[in-house]
Amino acid sequence: MNLEEVDILFSQEQVKARVKELGQQITRDYQGQNLLVIGVLKGAFIFMADLIREINLPLEVDFISVSSYGASTVSSGEVRITKDLDHSVEGKSVLLVEDIVDTGLTLNYIEEIFKKRNPANVKICCLLDKPSRRRSPVAAEYVGFTIEDLFVVGYGLDYAGKYRNYPAVCILKPSVYI
Ligand code: IMP
Ligand code: MG
Repeated sequence: MNLEEVDILFSQEQVKARVKELGQQITRDYQGQNLLVIGVLKGAFIFMADLIREINLPLEVDFISVSSYGASTVSSGEVRITKDLDHSVEGKSVLLVEDIVDTGLTLNYIEEIFKKRNPANVKICCLLDKPSRRRSPVAAEYVGFTIEDLFVVGYGLDYAGKYRNYPAVCILKPSVYI
């Protein structure tokens, strides 16, 4: 990690401990259910890889990849699915895993699409939540950390495609993007 560019917000140890707690909570809540964990690419891949190893239940995984529809998307929240699921969600307990919920527009859209496909239920697990930025009513049942309106990178989160490999959750110093 280049500490001239970032400040550590949550250390690797803090993240690991919190992910473990989330996994234990999910393990308790999903007993006897047909659990399908769906990661939203790319940001969720590291968090999801660690999270599922803390869930002590039989489960399946799938991934979806989305991208925004230009400028109009920002207000409409309409996103384009660039990679859809490989398997059906019908009858499954779907746990959507995201890196961060910001405005909520992306997840709200994905959640609505999935609900039409007859899953048993759909819940959201995010590593980070920025509720002060919310524009669409997304409520995550499982939240790693609630944060202020800061731009963060690392542990899967990027800035211009970079920093996903940083093991801690870091605040990107404004000097990097100004
Ligand atoms: P939204 O909730 O639809 O606004 O979009 C959430 C997506 O925006 C996340 O999946 C991230 O890809 C991206 N995002 C939002 N805030 C941050 C941040 O602080 N760092 C990196 N990516 C972010
Ligand atoms: Mg993302």
